[in-house]
Amino acid sequence: MKRLILLCMTGIIAGMLQAQPETPGIIPAPVEWKPAEGIFSLNPSSSITVSNNDPAVLRTAELLARALRGSSGFTIPVRSGDVMTRNTGNILLTVNKENDATLGTEGYRLSIKPVMVSISANSAAGIFYGVQSLLQLMPREVDSRQPLQNVQWNIPGMDIIDYPRFGWRGLMLDVSRHFFTKEEVKAFIDEMVRYKFNLLHWHLTDDEGWRIEIKSYPNLTKKGAWSARRVGTFGNFPAPAPDEPRDYGGFYTQKDIREIVQYASERFVNILPEVDVPGHSLATIASYPELSCTPGADKYVVRSGEKIMNWYSGGFTALVDNTLCPANEKVYTFLDKVFTEIAALFPFEYIHMGGDECAKNFWEKNPEVLALMKREKLKDMHEVQSYFVKRVSKIVGSKGKKMIGWDEILEGGLAPNAAVMSWRGMKGGIEAAKMGHEVVMSPTTYAYLDYMQSDPIVEPPVYASLRLKKAYEFEPVPEGVNPALIKGGQANIWSEQLYNTRHMQYMVWPRALAIAEAVWSPKAARNWNRFAARVEANFDRMDMRSVKYARAMFDPIFNPKKDANGQLLVELSTEVEGLDIYYSWDNSHPDPFYPRYDGPMRVPKDASMLKAVTYRKGRQMGRQIDIPVKELEKRAGIQK
Ligand code: ACM
Repeated sequence: MKRLILLCMTGIIAGMLQAQPETPGIIPAPVEWKPAEGIFSLNPSSSITVSNNDPAVLRTAELLARALRGSSGFTIPVRSGDVMTRNTGNILLTVNKENDATLGTEGYRLSIKPVMVSISANSAAGIFYGVQSLLQLMPREVDSRQPLQNVQWNIPGMDIIDYPRFGWRGLMLDVSRHFFTKEEVKAFIDEMVRYKFNLLHWHLTDDEGWRIEIKSYPNLTKKGAWSARRVGTFGNFPAPAPDEPRDYGGFYTQKDIREIVQYASERFVNILPEVDVPGHSLATIASYPELSCTPGADKYVVRSGEKIMNWYSGGFTALVDNTLCPANEKVYTFLDKVFTEIAALFPFEYIHMGGDECAKNFWEKNPEVLALMKREKLKDMHEVQSYFVKRVSKIVGSKGKKMIGWDEILEGGLAPNAAVMSWRGMKGGIEAAKMGHEVVMSPTTYAYLDYMQSDPIVEPPVYASLRLKKAYEFEPVPEGVNPALIKGGQANIWSEQLYNTRHMQYMVWPRALAIAEAVWSPKAARNWNRFAARVEANFDRMDMRSVKYARAMFDPIFNPKKDANGQLLVELSTEVEGLDIYYSWDNSHPDPFYPRYDGPMRVPKDASMLKAVTYRKGRQMGRQIDIPVKELEKRAGIQK
């Protein structure tokens, strides 16, 4: 009998070993991973040793120590030099004396053994990314903000070799439509670096606010940073009354900017500042009306979400002139001074000049623009825009920086050396790369985090949708282009519909995790089901950190169709496998004792509402979504 028990135990242990996940729970997935013997255990006498005196590595060690101290309550001293203590549970951080060619500048090796954890890299950045992986391998309690008792701080033995696929791994934060405070921006950086993003694209100006102090143009922040407070559905708010308080907004002083740049650089994040010109410039025009083609004091106010553009299929016009005037020399003097100050504040080699969605209807009627066209032999408005972009590119170049812009800068002819950020799909990026220009891929199709992520009936309304699974299909290098010109990719969080940080987090996570994996992990390692499992495990960590995220990947998906007889047929599905969908047609709330969905359904006679909810092993996973039958009919194209 004893033998039998022993045999069973051996079997169970072998089974447990075999049950190791195929990749450890790290996002983005590492390049190579293999399990090793034993378990590492952080304990009250653990310490961190940095093998040299590199201040950037010491800072990284201190960040790690802070995270471990805060959650475990252990003292975790940081030492430098070759100090090794006799006890186990130590962490060693080593910058290689000789270059390890496999790793490049940002890669690392992470070895987890019972005696110690060792991270080695060619640079401090590599050590930093090794530390991020280590933190994700620790029990999720490591993300607790208070010390927790009775946690076994164990990690199973393993060896990881890891390095990024792309050098440009970006997230764009729009602080114009909603102003995020300095502390909120730092918290955003804290989250992005966990997933090895290394670039914050900071959208600092737009129609709704100018957010950076420019000493030579004080009105930009005195006037241009403030709008009337609104909540609800952005885009069609009534225009504010002339005497309405303008107290919504804010800006960063140059001191704030330096502080954030420093904070980011200590976390190996570059900041790409964007000043969006010549369109999206109403905050600028409200501050300095003489920069528009149709000047007039008191004619312009910073937008508070009222309608200022007319969008129609295939184009748009501006109702209010929100553009800088390309035929006005004062505009170039303005941009020269602005970019001088910006270049001095941001060490990153690129400056973003926007260039997107510039309406031309006011230019078309302007005598100075018409004279400019004649003088410069510009045959249409695209060429006028291109003239402007080329002049801006020269100004940016004169500050020792490279220029990048949204893909509209291709229209009318791209400025020499300009890099292109492709957002209207991948085609702008493909065109630019074929002309030998550098490209960052950031297409709406996969990377727009302001889009809705679940059924529109439960999401705050936005004009388009992007599910997590689709975001995970992002492949930055299209067929037929030189991969060396694709610098990487990024996801964008626009803030027209964001009124607070919690909702920003809800929109960013987990879709930014999909983008993180697309820009870091090897293409061949991509696997939706395994990614979804890691995302789910990551939610527990975000809960520990009180970071909000969307559980949309667990929501039921409704696919209504019109059958051959014109009748409604409703299919349900889920993004994530292994979920059961329960439903009702009788207006009551379904639970696991209700009918389980097992195939396309017809609407029962007189039913007016379908309610569906997902469960896994008795636990509710997604939201209950209620859809009126009339809405299903509408979506299926059935008119009644
Ligand atoms: C953009 O989304 N207008 C770049």
